[in-house]
Amino acid sequence: MDADAQKRAAAARAIDYVKSGMRLGLGTGSTAKHFVDLLGERARAGLQVVGVPTSEATRAQAEACGIALTTLDETPELDLTIDGADEVAPDFSLIKGGGGALLREKIVAAASARMIVIVDGGKWVNKLGAFALPIEVLPFGYGATLRAIEKAISGVQKSGPMKLRQGREGHPFVTDGGHWIVDAALGRIDDPGALAHALSAVPGVMEHGLFIDLASIVIIGGPDGAKTVERPASR
Ligand code: A5P
Repeated sequence: MDADAQKRAAAARAIDYVKSGMRLGLGTGSTAKHFVDLLGERARAGLQVVGVPTSEATRAQAEACGIALTTLDETPELDLTIDGADEVAPDFSLIKGGGGALLREKIVAAASARMIVIVDGGKWVNKLGAFALPIEVLPFGYGATLRAIEKAISGVQKSGPMKLRQGREGHPFVTDGGHWIVDAALGRIDDPGALAHALSAVPGVMEHGLFIDLASIVIIGGPDGAKTVERPASR
């Protein structure tokens, strides 16, 4: 089973958690895209749900699939968010933002009673950090913000090379919120909670891709199908 088939298997398992009447957060990325496809099939067959998309790409896909949409202004509390991730650690801390939608993804996940993360087997890691950590920043004051980010990281752990994510024709990649993304290649993140706290304190950082205490279930696609792991209640 290749990685895409594993993503689809994880998305198919997540569909089992969706019940009629639910208010859903709809994630972004190639794994979440499978979920939205499958949800669209159910919606067209009569399943009654409403969704809040975490990106303009997911909004367009969900609309095309016939999924009823709402906003967090109309529907500020959601039952369940289903989203992908770039890395998942055994304590259920995540790196997200490889697709650039981390700010909306985190707002939507935080507004949800539960978050199910769907990934292929390659995303489950012992320690976060091999995937460069996306940090969303305001373009205003970028140089100063970058220095402050480096200082904040160095206060917690070893820092690493920072790259401004590139978009088209030599311009920085711009998020749905009009911000830029710095990808911080840290190699290994020993204390995701401490790093998340330090980055959140930097003015100019709109959000970072460390998702702590948000995921309640992780569904991992693998060569033999999908495996569901629940976060222990004590965490
Ligand atoms: C989007 O900003 C990301 O957080 C994605 O959820 C994450 O990058 C996983 O993407 P894939 O499902 O495409 O691997």
